[in-house]
Amino acid sequence: MALLGINIDHVATVRQARGTDEPDPVWAASEAELGGADGITFHLREDRRHVQDRDARVLRETVSVKLNMEMAIAPAIVAFAQELRPDQATLVPERREELTTEGGLDVLRHRDSIQRVVSELRGAGCTVSAFIEPIEDQIRAAADCGCAIVELWTGGWAHAGTADEKEKAISALANGIEIGRSLGLAVDGGHGLTYRNVAAVAGLKGFREFNIGHSVVSRAVFVGMRAAVGQMKSLLEKHG
Ligand code: PXP
Repeated sequence: MALLGINIDHVATVRQARGTDEPDPVWAASEAELGGADGITFHLREDRRHVQDRDARVLRETVSVKLNMEMAIAPAIVAFAQELRPDQATLVPERREELTTEGGLDVLRHRDSIQRVVSELRGAGCTVSAFIEPIEDQIRAAADCGCAIVELWTGGWAHAGTADEKEKAISALANGIEIGRSLGLAVDGGHGLTYRNVAAVAGLKGFREFNIGHSVVSRAVFVGMRAAVGQMKSLLEKHG
């Protein structure tokens, strides 16, 4: 059964909507841990639209499972991560106008800068992951750059409409897992996974971990974070 990383960004999104101090993403992280989360993920965006520097620092001090920081390769963010030293750093593409991370990082195109950032983050003690589409050349480039993990973008599956699109998305992920593992990489998955669509990807052999945010935080509004995480864990167990 794959591990479950919970992305708590959208708890901070609700707080930032009013600029107050609630709900606190740090509380959400503790509740997620009590619900069985194997890791806590946050994305410190350059525009600080949800998670703030303070959140990252308090999470570093309080999270007892793996702490995973999603980040762009921008120098100021890399410097912050070097100081924070999260257990894992996941490199993601970032555009200010996007609603959320859309698609994977183009490792082939930014190979030199990614290689440099991976080495800086490894020097700070972080295990480095690259969030990429399930494309062979991208997976190979991530391995060449020194990443130990690839997180395959599951949006292709989440957004697939027709049976044909669904089949193609699942087979691209299965292929990606095989290529990644053959290169000695750990292979994670994330983006767009929900209680309704997670079964098929959870059933693929070889995923180490899923990172899930929006759907779990949405359910937590009604049932609480601890229960929402527990329900997602049960699905991974049932289908994994
Ligand atoms: N993995 C990565 C790398 C992401 O950027 C995101 C979105 O922040 C997620 C997983 C979680 O996606 P979702 O919120 O759609 O579950």
